[in-house]
Amino acid sequence: MEARKKRIFSGIQPSGDLTLGSYMGAIRNWVALQDEYDCLYCIVDMHAITVRQVPADLRRRTLEQLAQYIACGLDPQKNIMFIQSHVPQHAELSWVLGCYTQFGELSRMTQFKDKAQKHADNITAGLFTYPVLMAADILLYQADLVPVGQDQKQHVELCRDIAGRFNGVYSDTFTLPEPYIPKMGARIMSLGNPANKMSKSDPDGCVFMMDEPEVIARKFKRAVTDCDTAVRYDMENKPGVSNLLTIYCAATGKDLAAAEAEFAGRGYGDFKAAVGEAVIEQMRPIREEARRLLGDKAYLEGVYREGAQRAQALAERTLRKVYKKVGFVAR
Ligand code: TRP
Repeated sequence: MEARKKRIFSGIQPSGDLTLGSYMGAIRNWVALQDEYDCLYCIVDMHAITVRQVPADLRRRTLEQLAQYIACGLDPQKNIMFIQSHVPQHAELSWVLGCYTQFGELSRMTQFKDKAQKHADNITAGLFTYPVLMAADILLYQADLVPVGQDQKQHVELCRDIAGRFNGVYSDTFTLPEPYIPKMGARIMSLGNPANKMSKSDPDGCVFMMDEPEVIARKFKRAVTDCDTAVRYDMENKPGVSNLLTIYCAATGKDLAAAEAEFAGRGYGDFKAAVGEAVIEQMRPIREEARRLLGDKAYLEGVYREGAQRAQALAERTLRKVYKKVGFVAR
């Protein structure tokens, strides 16, 4: 008999357009995992409203994100792909888990502290309990592994703590998940300020997956480098050039040594143009396929409806167990 595949859950907030960083750091890895694991890939729209969104933009980006997931090669047959707000069990489990999470624990989350500072005029309870909803996302599906960036590791660890605590009180209920930080999870930095992660809040330093080729070329042409001339990987002293090398390798599949050799003795101008070109060619088929899918609303609707159905079936099993264990009367 075939052993049960390990289960994976991950999600991205539709709070901004997907970037080259989302692709190279996350989605590309998801594609690589889809055959070996039993995967759920979610569009976490409920997390997105922890900071204020323009409703029409949120709706557009949610559908765009689904189209982009598929265009990147995620197969809706192999994976369960769905929109978080379509599966009400997330909110339901989140309430229960919130009653097993300490105020102090949530206060220590570094992302909360950062975001509270950035949105000082709108520090909501939702922003504070965001990690509890994330724990519900993961625990509902008994996920073994959670592919996330370094910045989300603390949330996955909190999720483990909450799950362990619940299991301790009520006997085994939840699988304890582990963060899965891919080795080759290229961490893409801003083109304008390579000390920061590439972020949609910094549109100049950020390449969006749906950017037109001319726009991509221009952004790379303006990328910050240094006053040296050598194309060499040295994150500490040459963060801009190193970031461009990372992107070039991720876009072409070449290794660092080969890339450095290729640009030895050539100027930064040439180098930046070549990186831009590589990214344009990598993104072109994805952008075109996403555009095509966005024109086929009925298809996308079918995907997210079916995804929600499959997700609900799994989620309901866990939620029923939880409600019983905490002492709720069966409906
Ligand atoms: N908090 C994650 C982020 O901002 C998104 C997210 C929500 C998530 N729920 C999740 C990631 C569950 C992994 C698993 O990147």
